[in-house]
Amino acid sequence: MKDLRCPLCCQPLLQNTQGLACANRHQFDRAKEGYFNLLPVQNKHSREPGDAKEQLQARRQFLQAGFFDPLKMRLQELLPATTSTLLDIGCGEGYFTAGFSDALPQAQIYGIDIAKAGVRLAAKTAKDKTGLTYCVASSFDLPLADNSMDVVTRIYAPSKDAELCRVIKPGGKLVIVAPGENHLLGLRARIYKEVRPHPQPMTPEGFAVVEHHRLGSNLRVNEPDICAALLAMTPFAWRLAPELRDSILASELRDTLDFTINVYSKN
Ligand SMILES: C[S@@+](CC[C@H](N)C(=O)[O-])C[C@H]1O[C@@H](n2cnc3c(N)ncnc32)[C@H](O)[C@@H]1O
Ligand SMILES: [Zn+2]
Repeated sequence: MKDLRCPLCCQPLLQNTQGLACANRHQFDRAKEGYFNLLPVQNKHSREPGDAKEQLQARRQFLQAGFFDPLKMRLQELLPATTSTLLDIGCGEGYFTAGFSDALPQAQIYGIDIAKAGVRLAAKTAKDKTGLTYCVASSFDLPLADNSMDVVTRIYAPSKDAELCRVIKPGGKLVIVAPGENHLLGLRARIYKEVRPHPQPMTPEGFAVVEHHRLGSNLRVNEPDICAALLAMTPFAWRLAPELRDSILASELRDTLDFTINVYSKN
């Protein structure tokens, strides 16, 4: 775990019996689920930043049902076999992060998310996995050493170019997944008066795009509780009138999944 750095003074974090500490004696205890909280209170802009617990639980339920397995597999194939360190930014409840760890059993994998509820769920599931470390931290202030990561993945999460550039090794890879134009278009058309295309990620400063992939498929959900989980894990949930929600849940959901995957190389 030599890649982690202290969020308070930027010195390397070393393991001790309770957790991690730097040379300046800043101590970060290991939570009982096995994760570390490296988000200093002064960087916490609300009591519970990031996605809410209910949203993360819904995401877990939907992802466990396998609908995003093709995306997970495509991402696993894209990882260079020589990867020894990987950071998953905004890892949520850890579905993709655990998939990266399965694909790269020799590598050290880090998952960070600003939502403690997500990191807790992820760490609980990964308790017996070696080489997989979860931390509560912000993608705008990563608790990782300069030039320490071979690969950084960012799946539907925010980040800051300067931080990505700082932690990725020269020649290292950045993989950004975003919803494509047709992603859940049917559902969005039922909910919004005007459906705007999802904004596509810009090439971050200090990187060059090396690969662009599009992954699309049909989505059929006929179990109402999985359909409810899909609604609850998206920003749609907050806007839905109860009658519309009931009518969506009343029949099989047929829609489109559409992802864009951009791979960048650090200059
Ligand atoms: C849509 S979820 C995606 C989760 C996961 N990557 C997945 O695909 O299952 C976005 C995640 O980004 C996290 N997030 C939001 N702002 C963040 C920040 N500043 N730093 C780290 N994570 C953040 C949220 O808490 C949430 O778990
Ligand atoms: Zn310190």
